[in-house]
Amino acid sequence: MNVLLLGGSPSAPSTTWRLLQLVGERLALPGHRTQALQVRELPAVALLRADLHDPALAHALAQVAQADAVVVGTPVYKASFSGILKTFLDLLPQDGLVGKLVLPLATGGSQSHMLALDYALRPVLASLAPRHVLPSIYATSAQLPWDPERGLLPAPAIGARIDAGVAQLVHELQQLAQHRAVQAARPAGAHLAVSIPA
Ligand SMILES: Cc1cc2nc3c(=O)[nH]c(=O)nc-3n(C[C@H](O)[C@H](O)[C@H](O)COP(=O)(O)O)c2cc1C
Repeated sequence: MNVLLLGGSPSAPSTTWRLLQLVGERLALPGHRTQALQVRELPAVALLRADLHDPALAHALAQVAQADAVVVGTPVYKASFSGILKTFLDLLPQDGLVGKLVLPLATGGSQSHMLALDYALRPVLASLAPRHVLPSIYATSAQLPWDPERGLLPAPAIGARIDAGVAQLVHELQQLAQHRAVQAARPAGAHLAVSIPA
């Protein structure tokens, strides 16, 4: 299955992007294909002017359309998700996440704004008609130290949360694949069949 890692931090290096990459590496273990999309790399003027004819924006929107699951990561900015992530989400059609699984995650400077994911980002994602928005993962930047040689070293509690989130997404991707296989095996028009009593 195709999983898109959608990064909403304007910074580089980015703790959020590192967390997304870690999640992507875990998802690749059972064989899922991951693609990367960092909003910061899209052309800024086209993004702000919602220029859907811009080739880079069109490609990014196609990446979303082709994904079976989207892992959306954002830093907490001013008690909400980042502005550049919103500029991109605003370009998606009203049902831009239809049929997809979504795993939201965020990093923040403190625990104080951990609910930002649920009161700010989740309603926006839910409005795009996804199949399911999974429970969010939140970590402070202090819980995600970076070692130049060993990479991201999540604190134990966050490591466990990442494991649980990835396991749930893998499980739901499996269910989605099974659901699609059943749908594909049904004869055309089977959903219209009605039984008429003799
Ligand atoms: C402009 C700005 C606003 C921020 N606002 C908040 C905030 O309201 N609450 C919070 O917990 N952290 C806040 N932070 C801290 C970032 O969320 C935190 O450092 C995050 O891990 C950065 O992720 P990144 O490296 O992926 O950009 C803010 C940081 C910046 C630069």
